[in-house]
Amino acid sequence: MPGPFDEKIDGGAYEPAGGASAGAKGSALVTGGTRGIGLATARRLGEAGWRVICVARSAGHLESTVASLRADGISARGLTADLSVAAERQSLAEALQDTVDLRAVVNNAGGAARGGALDTALEDFDAALEIDVRAAWDLGQRLASRLAENAGSIVNVASTVALAVPSGRGLYSSAKGALVAATRSMAIDLARTGVRVNAVAPGPTLTEGLRTFNTDEQLAERATKVPLGRLADPADIADAIEFLCSHRARHITGQVLVVDGGASVAGMYI
Ligand SMILES: NC(=O)c1ccc[n+]([C@@H]2O[C@H](COP(=O)([O-])OP(=O)(O)OC[C@H]3O[C@@H](n4cnc5c(N)ncnc54)[C@H](OP(=O)(O)O)[C@@H]3O)[C@@H](O)[C@H]2O)c1
Repeated sequence: MPGPFDEKIDGGAYEPAGGASAGAKGSALVTGGTRGIGLATARRLGEAGWRVICVARSAGHLESTVASLRADGISARGLTADLSVAAERQSLAEALQDTVDLRAVVNNAGGAARGGALDTALEDFDAALEIDVRAAWDLGQRLASRLAENAGSIVNVASTVALAVPSGRGLYSSAKGALVAATRSMAIDLARTGVRVNAVAPGPTLTEGLRTFNTDEQLAERATKVPLGRLADPADIADAIEFLCSHRARHITGQVLVVDGGASVAGMYI
């Protein structure tokens, strides 16, 4: 069984900063950093000079992700962990003890929950909360003191369904709504330590995850409802996350930055 700390991929030390990573700003942990929004975020942060640490369950995907980021001059490494398992979160936090420059944590992994308020089994509700809320809460607690040493920040990836509820999406909406509440609570409780905590709320974003649940025709139909005329690209969300991690967002905490092409403002919860 793969452990949360993958020696083969990690190799212990950081790659020397160079190319896009020259003048590194610190290390940024990106959960779910091998696909979709997480991968785009790892790349964007790396381009901005962060050393990135990607976390996912699949060692194979981590290996290829890290290789591709490094090929582009980004300082990257990978750690395997199933973040829905508390013991693996603990091991991950322990593996990060040596990362003295940890300055950003992006809680992105999650979001596969499907089901309505009346047809979702309690076990499925628990599973959704485990990966979408408890994982972010737990990692936030475990890494808060290190982030405080570095005036760091946390960005949680929520969703526009946290803010308004499409019919039949009660499970996902409950999980992401709780994540928004956790973001605000943590922001206030950590503020005096200098750690900022924010969330992004993406609208539908063209990732493998979204394509699992939508045909091309359905995606095209959903895009017509977006005032800016298209669904989000993962890079759209990554740019917002990179901003919230950066010094430019130094006086912003407890906020939810919606990135949905104007859909929610127009009352289009798509
Ligand atoms: N795409 C959208 O339309 C959309 C809209 C709003 C919000 N979001 C949110 O954005 C986040 C990313 O979505 P996405 O569409 O980019 O996802 P995705 O394409 O399905 O990618 C998910 C990533 O998370 C990792 N992952 C999944 N479960 C994990 C676990 N238990 N432990 C560790 N890593 C795990 C996956 O790697 P492994 O499978 O190898 O673990 C992969 O790297 C989610 O929180 C989602 O709710 C997405």
